[in-house]
Amino acid sequence: MNAATGTTVAAGVPGRLRRLREGLAEAGEDAAWLISKPENRRYLSGFTGSAGLLVISRDAACLVTDFRYVEQAQAEAPEYRVVRHGHPVSEALKPLLEELGIRRLMVEQDHLTVGRFEEFREQLAPVVLEPRAPAADRLRGVKDAAEIALIREAAAIATRALAQVVPAVRPGARERDVALELEFAIRRLGADASAFPAIVASGPRSALPHGAASDRVIRPGEFVTLDFGAACRGYHSDITRTFLTGEPTARQREVYEAVLRAQRAALEAVVPGRTTREVDAVAREALTGAGLGEYFGHGLGHGVGLAVHEFPSLSPSAEEVVLEAGMVVTVEPGAYLPGEGGVRVEDLVVVTETGAEVLTDFPKELTVLA
Ligand code: GLY
Ligand code: MN
Ligand code: MN
Repeated sequence: MNAATGTTVAAGVPGRLRRLREGLAEAGEDAAWLISKPENRRYLSGFTGSAGLLVISRDAACLVTDFRYVEQAQAEAPEYRVVRHGHPVSEALKPLLEELGIRRLMVEQDHLTVGRFEEFREQLAPVVLEPRAPAADRLRGVKDAAEIALIREAAAIATRALAQVVPAVRPGARERDVALELEFAIRRLGADASAFPAIVASGPRSALPHGAASDRVIRPGEFVTLDFGAACRGYHSDITRTFLTGEPTARQREVYEAVLRAQRAALEAVVPGRTTREVDAVAREALTGAGLGEYFGHGLGHGVGLAVHEFPSLSPSAEEVVLEAGMVVTVEPGAYLPGEGGVRVEDLVVVTETGAEVLTDFPKELTVLA
């Protein structure tokens, strides 16, 4: 723990820098990464502030930030030379790049805004900006033990919060109030924040995969989907459970059981060496076999870490990635029947040497709350 800032310096930073630089070797001596994405900035430096750019070349690691963050950056990012910038940022960045002999700057193409790109292109010339898929996104895919410990903590808080809030999920309750109870519970249990605004979607709204909590009052005999998570020192969790507020109809039971079977089959398929698409296909085929394939219109899951949605994506339309031990991913099939209702069951798992360990240990059998 750093006494000045009360934050924990990321012990993994030297190894992360080393791995990023392995990729830089082929880019040439005069190339460097310009890291702007907050998750990558934190991952590669340990700096937890909200503004700053990393310049990482073969030999140099610099953190360019403003007055507000200089002291914090020095404390949290001991591997970095901290450079203070004023306005515009290029007044500090340009001489730094000159001093380091950098003529090509690889920028994170899915994060740097077009405005910033144009500004830097003009002001940093003759340095050339090269938009690239962020290499650090991939590095973040496999977590180290300290990262897994934080995700495990975030998952444990989410499951404990759910246990506390289930009694509030009943006919007569407003979705918005259930979401508020979740938020209170998550914070009271020690999380820094919710991972994202909780989804509480009841009745026909449960057919909306991302139905943000509304003023709707929950009625008897409905599906209610709760999808939420906790954030602990930058790391997130993500869990979904769907409940029923009355004895199930035959159709409700059929849909619920089909989603649960698909989810369990996909969990079994999460093994190192299998691919993201193969695992997705297990769930998709199970739901198709139950006649519900057309109602499962999103990917099976996604990586979770410093971002709630990150590499790898378990989807038929995303790049196929071989699962590795240390990856943390969700397994979240659903079936959404427009106008009727929907079901999703989501667990967060860490890929182990032999399979997967579920971090969101909470019952999944059809549960009637009334
Ligand atoms: N709440 C979005 C998700 O589960 O991915
Ligand atoms: Mn979720
Ligand atoms: Mn998710």
